[in-house]
Amino acid sequence: MAKSKKQKSRTKAASKKVVKLKSKKLAAKANGLPKPSSKPYGKDGKALTGVRILDFTHVQSGPTCTQLLGYMGADVIKVERPGVGDITRTQLRDVKGQDSLYFTMLNGNKRSITIDSKHPQGKRVLDALIKTCDVLVENFAPGALDRMGLTWEHIHKLNPRMIVASVKGFGPGPYEDCKVYENVAQCAGGSASTTGFREGPPLVTGAQIGDSGTGLHLAWGIVCALYQRMRTGRGQKVLCAMQDGVLNLARVKLRDQQRLKVGPLSEYSQFGEGVPFGKAVPRAGNDSGGGQPGWILKCKGWESDPDAYIYFITQAPVWGEICDLIGKPQWKTDPDYATPPARLPKLKQIFATIEEWTMTKTKFEVMDICNKVDIPVGPILSMKEIAEEKSLRDTGTVVEVDHPGRGKYLTVGNPVKMSDSITEVERSPLLGEHTDEILKDVLGFKAAEIAEVKNSGALSAPKKEEKAA
Ligand code: COA
Repeated sequence: MAKSKKQKSRTKAASKKVVKLKSKKLAAKANGLPKPSSKPYGKDGKALTGVRILDFTHVQSGPTCTQLLGYMGADVIKVERPGVGDITRTQLRDVKGQDSLYFTMLNGNKRSITIDSKHPQGKRVLDALIKTCDVLVENFAPGALDRMGLTWEHIHKLNPRMIVASVKGFGPGPYEDCKVYENVAQCAGGSASTTGFREGPPLVTGAQIGDSGTGLHLAWGIVCALYQRMRTGRGQKVLCAMQDGVLNLARVKLRDQQRLKVGPLSEYSQFGEGVPFGKAVPRAGNDSGGGQPGWILKCKGWESDPDAYIYFITQAPVWGEICDLIGKPQWKTDPDYATPPARLPKLKQIFATIEEWTMTKTKFEVMDICNKVDIPVGPILSMKEIAEEKSLRDTGTVVEVDHPGRGKYLTVGNPVKMSDSITEVERSPLLGEHTDEILKDVLGFKAAEIAEVKNSGALSAPKKEEKAA
């Protein structure tokens, strides 16, 4: 039966309603997310595409953070003091007159603008940048940002969506006004007191857990704040104190501190050696922290090569395989060796016996042999070996970049690999390389305005005569 005009329009309205309901349901299911992209993976921008960072960082902790954000696709605008720049540009220089590796390896994927933040015209440019950026990242000494006039209130008034992220040495408390560098943080965060050999002094580690570690924490905080801002529409302060960042990485040692109250730490070799524990977590040398005894053992060539060593873990499930390899099959059933508790008091002697075997092989031979039977071992790789390791080049973890001033250099690429956000590592910028570009393209300044700011001296180093005066 043919439908009347009225019926037809009713049916149309009803089906429209169904479609609307369906798409509403789908939207609810998708949690408000857009339809999945149909572009090939890696071809739909990067994780932080569209995020603009006002990078007020220097030295290591802050630059590590913003470089990671740059690797993820953020537009990082590094503000540097005219004529001087980030102090690391000239520190530990290896090529005369050129930006050091200290700087270039921490400031890839960024643009550089020079601004005197204390000059009235400089302040004007900064205010304009604050209005257009999503995140301000800084790691000045406590109070320095406020002294520039960039208080939270000022920033928030200009741009309520701005996230202001800071690295400081200490959080609020007795030390909050202190200037802090890497090793200070390693000491204050509990790392140094728990690193080294029992009979020796506290040790700092080569890994920059105070600086780079805190930068990494801050980057995580920033990304979380960006996510929250999608819901609240407003920015917030993000603070990571270096002491807190180090402590977070040393949290298993605070675990051990609490375990000490109920008895000695049986996985520390001093337990097996019958050395009493004190009131605080001791240094554990090369003991493995995970409850499976481990130690660093010499390999073939150790007499001349300081890195001919291997980390060897005597994991309980592969004890039988270890005994077979080192020519001690009787230890598999000997009650003095067969169980982990029986082995604890003899670890020194057991590792000495394993070492007699590892010393007959190179660290890579030990690695090959042990991995075949699931014994966890790790070669001690020198930085030379890492720099030359093909697999690290293939994955983009170690990257060679070309620099107009200094030529080719190696840097560490993005340690996090994402299937839909592919990192392209770019060289670090020259001092003020993008000043004009940023004024024009980011801030939309006209030629006359650019000239006015430039002529004011806010973007250039003070002239020698002026300095002397
Ligand atoms: N224009 C004008 N002045 C600028 C500027 C610019 N573009 N950039 C920086 N400055 C000024 C600052 O305003 C500050 O001046 P003020 O002291 O008169 O206020 C001055 O430069 C020095 O900044 P500061 O941060 O104090 O540098 P520093 O070299 O004395 O100290 C640290 C370095 C790292 C110890 C200190 O910044 C700090 O403790 N930071 C926090 C913790 C941290 O990140 N430590 C690890 C670093 S890897």
